[in-house]
Amino acid sequence: KGKITLTMIKPTAVKEHHVGDILAHIEHAGFKIIGLKMTQMPKEKAMVFYEVHKDKFFFDELVNFMKSGPVVVAILEKENAVKDFRELIGSTDPAEAEEGTIRKLFAKDKTHNAIHGSDSDENAVKEAWFFFSEMDQFRY
Ligand code: CMP
Repeated sequence: KGKITLTMIKPTAVKEHHVGDILAHIEHAGFKIIGLKMTQMPKEKAMVFYEVHKDKFFFDELVNFMKSGPVVVAILEKENAVKDFRELIGSTDPAEAEEGTIRKLFAKDKTHNAIHGSDSDENAVKEAWFFFSEMDQFRY
């Protein structure tokens, strides 16, 4: 069995109708969707999700953006899920993202950067449980 990562398609990409295209990129890259939903985070929940960034200058902007509309959250399974997914999405700043990456294709700037990907195996598990109960996490 592969490891997991957690992704969120961010509010701007949802509003611009890129959900289907982004999920297609993800599946075509060999990731298996083992949990999926649309949700909107209240401010408090967004603050907890991004707690590690609470002292950064961009924290308020990040939280205000992430609570501004629905997001599509998914748990993805693959060997080397975290690292391979970060390669698929590209750099945080779309201006620096490689051709063909999801952020190069769909992101606007560092805040409105289309998609989130976990930064470690440990955080992936934590983030999966943050959004999904046991009955909404599938192995198939
Ligand atoms: P994400 O992968 O969701 O995790 C943390 C987020 O912080 C990141 O995407 C960016 O949207 C945001 N972020 C990181 N660095 C900056 C920055 N320098 N300016 C604005 N936002 C940032």
